[in-house]
Amino acid sequence: PSVDVGGYVDLDRGLIDRTIFRDDVLYRQELRRVFAPSWLFLAHESQFAKPGDFFTTYMGEDPVIVTMGRDRKLRAFLNACRHRGMRVCRADAGATKAFTCSYHGWAYDTSGKLINVPNGEDYPAHFEQEKWGLVEVAQLDTYKGLVFATWNPEAPPLREALGGLGWYLDAMLDRDPEGTEVVGGVHKWVLEGNWKLAAEQFASDWYHVNISHASALMVMSPTGKGPKTEIVQTPGRQYADPLGHGHGFPTHPKSRFDDRVVHGWYDYEALRERLGDARVEGPMTTGHGTVFPNFSYLPVNGSIRVWHPRGLDRMEVWAWTLVDRSMPDEVKDAQRIYNLRTFGPSGIFEQDDGENWSEVQATAHGFMAGSMTLNYQMGLGLEGEDGVHPGTTGHLYSDGAARGFYTRWRDLMNTPAWHEKAAGQVTEKDTP
Ligand code: FES
Repeated sequence: PSVDVGGYVDLDRGLIDRTIFRDDVLYRQELRRVFAPSWLFLAHESQFAKPGDFFTTYMGEDPVIVTMGRDRKLRAFLNACRHRGMRVCRADAGATKAFTCSYHGWAYDTSGKLINVPNGEDYPAHFEQEKWGLVEVAQLDTYKGLVFATWNPEAPPLREALGGLGWYLDAMLDRDPEGTEVVGGVHKWVLEGNWKLAAEQFASDWYHVNISHASALMVMSPTGKGPKTEIVQTPGRQYADPLGHGHGFPTHPKSRFDDRVVHGWYDYEALRERLGDARVEGPMTTGHGTVFPNFSYLPVNGSIRVWHPRGLDRMEVWAWTLVDRSMPDEVKDAQRIYNLRTFGPSGIFEQDDGENWSEVQATAHGFMAGSMTLNYQMGLGLEGEDGVHPGTTGHLYSDGAARGFYTRWRDLMNTPAWHEKAAGQVTEKDTP
């Protein structure tokens, strides 16, 4: 059964019932109606150089294998054996010719085809091996290096699904004509907290920066004066996409790269020509954003990350360092180290955020604390077109993108997904 969540979110008044962070029935519904039908981030193209390269990740709580086939095409499959459901590939990443299940030995090639069944002669005549390949995603596509996929055959194309966020995302993905790549490994860590807390904050919340990160800002401050003089009065904007995405950023005439190694490498004139002044002085500064539902990014830090849901109260953060391909190795390395110091698993900003989400989640389980209505009213009624940044924007400290995030969440939660139309049948067909 599905729950009508309309009563939990009143975005016209900026109110959210805390039940949406603490109810297990709603969590299961999210996996079915938010994660299964949406485009989800899988990996970066630079992780796959040659046929057979693979990377294992998750779509919601579903394990998936992303791999390059012999035709150099990227594909993604459910990482669950069609025989009895064993995890087929147990490595994080690598290169292979085939994925052999360690339970009974069924083996699949990199296009997902079942190519070996031990003791196959004992199966009945009507066993059709070609019908038992790995379950493949319905659609896979890339946007400027980022690989996304969806189980939903009815989902609109990826570029359409990104809505107006592309203009903002390009401040990170399109600075370099050569594109981007990821460097170093994938950092993975577990946080206590519902996945929405992180996704929503990266879409919208700049309000916390001056308080939660005050000590970190003081440590990093070139003048040593900290946030009071440098951040609090910072002007900026926040973009809220009707599809639930968001990106908030200070506006700064020189961009916030100015105190960094990469600053010396960038040709700002060329960047302004390529991206326009509004993007160099806006989304390319110390902003952050979220592609609904659970992919987030920080252009200046070079962090891209996904918030994998791990039950109602827990998320697993997977984070990469993204750099421009043309950067010399020493600049790439400087960017990687800067990212890890700020938003790596032990980064000084990351620690502050994780603490907030864990404490928020912990208090949600009290009966009284968990029944509270939460306030999302900042900037309500003050959004509009500013004539500089496309789409609807509000002030930097608005909750506008969070309201947009939960509007999208509510609409998906209240809409039967494609798979619900054919529920209740067990067939040899491999997708619902
Ligand atoms: Fe994979 Fe049996 S579960 S071969």
